[in-house]
Amino acid sequence: MRDRTVSRQTSPRRSRSSVLLLGLAVLLAACGDAQQNALDPAGPYAQGPHDLIIPVAIIALVVFILVQGLIIYSVVKFRTRADDDGSLPKQVHGNTRLEIVWTVIPALILAGIAVPTVQGIFEQMNEPDDEFMVVEVIGHRWWFEFYYPDHDIYTANEMIIPVDTPVRLEMTAADPARSPNQGVIHSFWIPRLAGKQDLVPGQTTFLNMQADEPGRYIGQCAEYCGLSHANMRARVVAMTDGDFQTWVDEQTTPADVPEEGTLEADGRELYHDLGDRMACASCHQVWEDGARNPNTGPDLTHLMSREEFAGAIHDLDEENLRQWLRDPNSMKAMQYEVNGLGMPNLDLTEDEIDALVAYLLALG
Ligand code: CUA
Repeated sequence: MRDRTVSRQTSPRRSRSSVLLLGLAVLLAACGDAQQNALDPAGPYAQGPHDLIIPVAIIALVVFILVQGLIIYSVVKFRTRADDDGSLPKQVHGNTRLEIVWTVIPALILAGIAVPTVQGIFEQMNEPDDEFMVVEVIGHRWWFEFYYPDHDIYTANEMIIPVDTPVRLEMTAADPARSPNQGVIHSFWIPRLAGKQDLVPGQTTFLNMQADEPGRYIGQCAEYCGLSHANMRARVVAMTDGDFQTWVDEQTTPADVPEEGTLEADGRELYHDLGDRMACASCHQVWEDGARNPNTGPDLTHLMSREEFAGAIHDLDEENLRQWLRDPNSMKAMQYEVNGLGMPNLDLTEDEIDALVAYLLALG
């Protein structure tokens, strides 16, 4: 009986402390190295907004302390006392000098903040002074496509960039004329490398980005774009110039065609022809020769050069690929059957999945 009382008393306290611990863990995770943290900039275009956040936060803090301090002072000083006779305090109305002061000071603060803010916006979207590289970013429901016009490279989910080079992103959302269900706004945000910019159907928006150090920088779609908005992540991988050139050389090499009679060759055949079911090739591209064309689904030419897939929410490995082909909706909510978005369930047999996965894993 006594024990039960004790446990009843301690359990709310215990749950409160576990909530606190959880909060602390979330906070610490947010400060980690590979996290989405605009307070830990890794390049000049992220440094700018960061250098603006800090003074604005300090000003806000000073205003907060001042206002809260005055409220607490007034509450304590003018509280009802025991000898209070219930009469109203002296009523005051209108004080021109005070009103001018408390209008002018905030106006000056806002005008002061506006100057570097507007300047910063233009720095984020105007052409960089130094030599830069262009990457086109296209927002699809629900993944980011990256196209390198200088090299004619298409890739998805992971954008590869060289360090110390300004990268100019020319961004838009997938053409609603091509797919009526695509016409929505997305937003591209890699907090440690750049500001945040919307991707708008039928328009081109610009954003500059630069990484000082090689590394893997994570981000995500930051504008609600439907069912799998939360499953629309992005990665930017910054490499040394040498590694970047190696990557370009790989990506501009056509995909290997598997030797006849192998499981991979069977997979390639299924990729192009699934009988009366829609073939993979009607949405995806594996570039073998001729022109490289954009398609509605991610380019798979060098699929296995990437680490993640499905909007960068799953590791790119055999087990995940298998499940993806077996039942894509179990790994990412898309509802192709309802709205024609994302990856359909192609009702593949286990033998077909074996062959297709073998083929995909060979696309290095
Ligand atoms: Cu795309 Cu949210």
